[in-house]
Amino acid sequence: MGQIILLGSQKGGCGKSTLAVNIAGWLVHQGKDVMLVDADPQGSSARWAQDRQEQEMLKHIPHVQASGNINQTLKDLAARYDYVVADTAGRDSRELRTGMVIADVLLSPSRPSQYDLDTLPHLTEVFLQAQDLNPNLKGYLVLNMCPTNPVIKEADEAKSYLAEFPEFGVATSLIYDRKAFRDCISEGKTIFEWKDAKAKAEISALMEEVFRG
Ligand SMILES: Nc1ncnc2c1ncn2[C@@H]1O[C@H](COP(=O)(O)OP(=O)(O)O)[C@@H](O)[C@H]1O
Ligand SMILES: [Mg+2]
Repeated sequence: MGQIILLGSQKGGCGKSTLAVNIAGWLVHQGKDVMLVDADPQGSSARWAQDRQEQEMLKHIPHVQASGNINQTLKDLAARYDYVVADTAGRDSRELRTGMVIADVLLSPSRPSQYDLDTLPHLTEVFLQAQDLNPNLKGYLVLNMCPTNPVIKEADEAKSYLAEFPEFGVATSLIYDRKAFRDCISEGKTIFEWKDAKAKAEISALMEEVFRG
């Protein structure tokens, strides 16, 4: 059985789709078979995958869209791929809940802003309910879009807030706000096909942390 990595949060715009495609990209660059599942009706990652498909020189990343109860879909795909990366909508959705019951890892990005962080108590509740049914489920909180300006200490403050949620692992590798993350998406590329070494290193560090356990 392959591993299922689910991206989920109660908030939109915190980077689920960005992380989903770059995680898929990291895995593909490690030589793994990866399926990207877009379970958000907004279809951001499916659109990215379609743009990508039109560019023959880019390594193919297969994708499907799924909605409603995605449990069986994820299970079937995990039997055929090394990794299944599933992107969900920015709310408490049926896709998120049914996905968590079968996933190996829930990755939940937050911006280091109070509005994002305020959604964590509810996410924790939903996560714990899923863990009752799927004790293997691990959860990681990831700070995304951290300010690159070292004077702004938002990420440090957010990190200490995240420590109040021991149900989750807190990824120590931060993802910063970098134009490269926006630019590569609009060209159907992953950060590994782009020219920002820092951005690449951030995704790699996060992945090594998550897959190390
Ligand atoms: N680390 C980052 N640096 C810069 N821009 C980012 C970063 N992560 C996400 N974005 C941008 O923020 C917006 C929301 O990200 P997205 O991945 O679509 O969030 P979600 O899927 O959670 O709604 C997009 O325009 C995306 O390009
Ligand atoms: Mg999205």
